[in-house]
Amino acid sequence: MPDNKSVAVYWAIIGLLLLTIAGLVLKFVVLGTTETAADGRKAIILEPSERAVVLNEMRQFLAGIQQMLDAADRGDAAAIAKIARPLGMAAAHNVPAGLAAKLPLEFKSLGHGVHGDFDRIAMDAEAMNDVRLSLRQLSGTLKTCVACHAGYQITVASAPAR
Ligand code: HEC
Repeated sequence: MPDNKSVAVYWAIIGLLLLTIAGLVLKFVVLGTTETAADGRKAIILEPSERAVVLNEMRQFLAGIQQMLDAADRGDAAAIAKIARPLGMAAAHNVPAGLAAKLPLEFKSLGHGVHGDFDRIAMDAEAMNDVRLSLRQLSGTLKTCVACHAGYQITVASAPAR
């Protein structure tokens, strides 16, 4: 049977461990690795290869949107579904865990919002065959692209923020 003194020590150790875990969650899940850029946006500090992963995904978004607009102009909802689907949540799961830890929670949730939107656009285009609906949904998604770009940039580790 431990005496009161050792019980107090156990609790102190448990408390310290909980604080450490809370600190790690705050750092790696909520805050990410950022600094303030010269233009006032948050600059996320990444390795060059991680930055390449994010920017590659971005260019796929842009290319996909161009193709969806083209398909909408042709009245081809089935093509919209086909282009939107690979941009959905399936693509978000390709992000390496180490990279995810450096991204602030708000950034991740904006990113998930866009991926979720593309899944919805694909599903609705297939179910309703209505390109006007797809265009309206796409316009809504672009608001999230705009919002995230207004708040964040990416800087490479060791290089000063632009
Ligand atoms: C979660 C935040 C976020 C969302 C959502 C987002 N972007 Fe980005 N995007 C960024 C950041 C950060 C950069 C890098 C900007 C910088 O460093 O100045 C970027 C860069 C880009 C680039 C430049 C790529 C390159 O090779 O340099 C394009 C194009 C782009 N985004 C398109 C889009 C489009 C289209 C959408 C919406 C479908 C979108 N982005 C949604 C954060 C986001």
